[in-house]
Amino acid sequence: MTASTIRQKYLAFFKAKDHQIIPPAPLVPADDPTTLFTNSGMQPLVPYLKGQIHPMGRRLVDSQPCFRAEDIDEVGDNRHTTFFEMLGNWSLGDYFKQDQLPWFWEFLTHELKLPKARLYISLFKGSSQVPRDQESLKVWKKLGVPENKIYWYEAKKNWWSRAGTPEEMPEGEIGGPTSEVFFEFDSVDHNTKYGKACHPNCDCGRFLEIGNTVFMEYEKTKQGLKKLPAQNVDFGGGLERLTAASQNQPDIFQIELFSEAVKNLEVVKKSGPAYNQDPLPYRVIVDHLRAAVFMAAGGVEPSNKDRGYILRRLIRRSMVQARKLGMEQDEWLSNTLPLLASPYTKTYPLIDKKIPEINQTITQEIDKFRQTITRGLKEFNKTSPNQINERFAFKSLATYGMPFEITQELAQQRGIKLDKGVFDEYVKKHQDLSRTVSTGMFKGGLADHSEATTKLHTATHLLHAALKKVLGDHVRQEGSHITAERLRFDFAHPRVLADEEIKKVEDLVNQKITEDLPVKKTIEAKNQALKSGAMAFFKETYPDKVTVYTVGRDLNQGWFSKEFCGGPHVTSTGKIGSVRIYKQKNLGAGLRRLYARLNHGNHQSIDQNQGRTQ
Ligand code: SER
Repeated sequence: MTASTIRQKYLAFFKAKDHQIIPPAPLVPADDPTTLFTNSGMQPLVPYLKGQIHPMGRRLVDSQPCFRAEDIDEVGDNRHTTFFEMLGNWSLGDYFKQDQLPWFWEFLTHELKLPKARLYISLFKGSSQVPRDQESLKVWKKLGVPENKIYWYEAKKNWWSRAGTPEEMPEGEIGGPTSEVFFEFDSVDHNTKYGKACHPNCDCGRFLEIGNTVFMEYEKTKQGLKKLPAQNVDFGGGLERLTAASQNQPDIFQIELFSEAVKNLEVVKKSGPAYNQDPLPYRVIVDHLRAAVFMAAGGVEPSNKDRGYILRRLIRRSMVQARKLGMEQDEWLSNTLPLLASPYTKTYPLIDKKIPEINQTITQEIDKFRQTITRGLKEFNKTSPNQINERFAFKSLATYGMPFEITQELAQQRGIKLDKGVFDEYVKKHQDLSRTVSTGMFKGGLADHSEATTKLHTATHLLHAALKKVLGDHVRQEGSHITAERLRFDFAHPRVLADEEIKKVEDLVNQKITEDLPVKKTIEAKNQALKSGAMAFFKETYPDKVTVYTVGRDLNQGWFSKEFCGGPHVTSTGKIGSVRIYKQKNLGAGLRRLYARLNHGNHQSIDQNQGRTQ
């Protein structure tokens, strides 16, 4: 059965059970800047699951385009995609387990004609706050599912909320225990790499989760989980996965939504593995490009921020994989895009209408990335072999957006081996910088340019200078991240700081604030600025003329802090008020992290009598 038939059958099946078909929400939520992409069918329905009356009634059904950025690195196996369509049905305080489970079973076994022998069930085994789901067990047994095909799992697997397990749910978040259905592909042998025995949640690829019913009846409160006003059903099933099961095809990239595009790539590729030798490059390209088609149709433009950054990442990652297949020009793109878009043009007329814009958006980004690679390549060729290491690869990423895989390709040609693990460690240690790169934060690790963030930004400069004065000149900034609530500063120093040392640093910062020193911005020649003692994070990556912020009465001598920086800053330190260092973290490998916030009122009330080291 094709995806298109399954979509139609599902909507019709629940319509016949008195559900209203609701239109899908846009993949790119129009009026919600806090949500990057719709990532589940329930997301647009949260207010109704919490008790608000839905204008279409208490039984709803739809097919919702979803995107999950967190799965980006999972793409490559036989079943994970970033973009997918989620078939969903909801009971807003209407039917519950006794109807939902038999209905879904009927849909699978009668409508899709999946053999019962291949279906397995999972249930929530219970916790201190929520009982084991014996009710669902009874329903499944009544439907004829033998008990040895029903598996019990903990919250990690059989609890659903947008945030994860009950412990991970923030106050106000809704969630509940789940019952999932899995399809078993008997053509796939269990791989013991994933564990001794196979089971529905094993990652070997023999089992595929094809539907998830959430019994959405809890809300997280200060006191723990509390029952919602009504018992709701939130069902979601991946259309692509249901299609794969209906075709008894363990590889979802071989269903008709992808298979033509994969075939086309095999034809146009210049070198590299065939699909059956190494499917990863193909899977990444078709998954990412399909997601890019939907994002571009929703009006997202590649950029360094938020949604635009995700789109940029998808396109660039596809291009990296295309190069692994020897394709450096656009040969991989021209046919692949239409083949990925065409299965959707009837159901999603926007895709059809916007094909030219989608093409343009993606092609332009590819051109830009080609320039990036050329710049990175130039830098690579200028660098002596003994300096080509994982740090260099990280710097190339941070500076030019050069992906690790490309630097690694290049290094290989010179006989240099770069280790992804070491590179990842490097990125982790420099989390702040990488987050700046990956979320498109403002330069300098600022989350925004609000008044509080700006004050804390200047305080960060004072902290940096104070650390050098108190601990020694070896202190080197390794990253920073500043929000309106707090500043976070990472630096190299061989020992954990004693409480007295932290106090000294804090006192020095506050003394400089009390002195109300002017903060001045100048533009200077890079070498001149470095000679004068200005601190720079990555010296090599600055242009010849740099912006420098100096804290002190005199720009030439006696200043307290001088740093390369893009701003913004307060005009004089007195505006900061005062700051409090409230936490230290040991990041390992000679790296320390300090957290500080603005002092509002009683200094002593924060972390009173507590050491500040974690
Ligand atoms: N909310 C659940 C999920 O996204 C079921 O719809 O899997």
